[in-house]
Amino acid sequence: MPPEEVVAEEAVAVAHEQHIEDVSFSFEGPFGTYDQLQLQRGLQIYTEICSACHGLKQVALRTLADENGPGLPEDQVRAYAAQMSIIDLETGEERPRLPTDFFPEVTGEGMGPDLSLMAKARAGFHGPYGTGISQLVSGMGGPEYIYSLLTGYTEETNEQAGTFYYENHTFPGGWISMAPPLMDDMVTYEDGSPADLHNLAMDVSAFLMWAAEPKLMDRKQVGLVSVLFLILLTVLLYLTNQRLWWPLKHGKDKLGDDR
Ligand code: HEC
Repeated sequence: MPPEEVVAEEAVAVAHEQHIEDVSFSFEGPFGTYDQLQLQRGLQIYTEICSACHGLKQVALRTLADENGPGLPEDQVRAYAAQMSIIDLETGEERPRLPTDFFPEVTGEGMGPDLSLMAKARAGFHGPYGTGISQLVSGMGGPEYIYSLLTGYTEETNEQAGTFYYENHTFPGGWISMAPPLMDDMVTYEDGSPADLHNLAMDVSAFLMWAAEPKLMDRKQVGLVSVLFLILLTVLLYLTNQRLWWPLKHGKDKLGDDR
């Protein structure tokens, strides 16, 4: 057995400790928002690299125009959709996709799972001691999980029954059958942003978070207005309460005795 294989097998046997990097995204916290340019860059990575093996079948193409999303102009969305074909359910014939269609579904040998809800399906933070309380502060950690997965490869590979596995510090079990999909400068960004592994992984993770949670910003706005409203209501109720009880507390039996 060549020495690399021995090393790989030992590594399989060693209990694997999952590593999730707590990177910070623009959409975190009560005031966090998606960064439109980042979502556009993430879409580019998904399109050029991930879409070869992963579908996004639950994401409607028209949402690429959402202002709180990638915010592409309508004509670009139409052009983007038209690059992909679909079998029309009514005519049974192949035609270009329309903005009203969804991203394709990708299935088959060697293909990966659909990524539409991946950022919500994986949790990065479970602590302390598995109680999940940290999720209240840091969120579920789905995008952090994806970021860590994409950047968590070692150089080790291992072949089992004809399938290659790649060592990864984030994937449960430590070995994943997806070859490292990202490398420094794999895509060329139009906006001139850095395209090293860290930034590529950040951008595509942010994009996948948007895909899974497109209404995040609307929800935060509604939440914020509700909280402000409740604070106002609390103040008004407190003042009303003071006003109603003031005479009783001060030995007066009727409201307004003192006026
Ligand atoms: C050559 C095909 C291929 C490409 C390209 C590819 N993947 Fe994968 N991906 C896979 C396969 C296969 C799996 C399943 C791995 C397994 O379960 O061992 C997977 C799994 C995943 C998972 C799920 C891991 C989990 O926790 O179950 C994520 C997230 C993911 N890929 C993200 C991406 C992203 C983001 C890109 C683009 C940057 C990408 N993949 C590109 C084949 C691919």
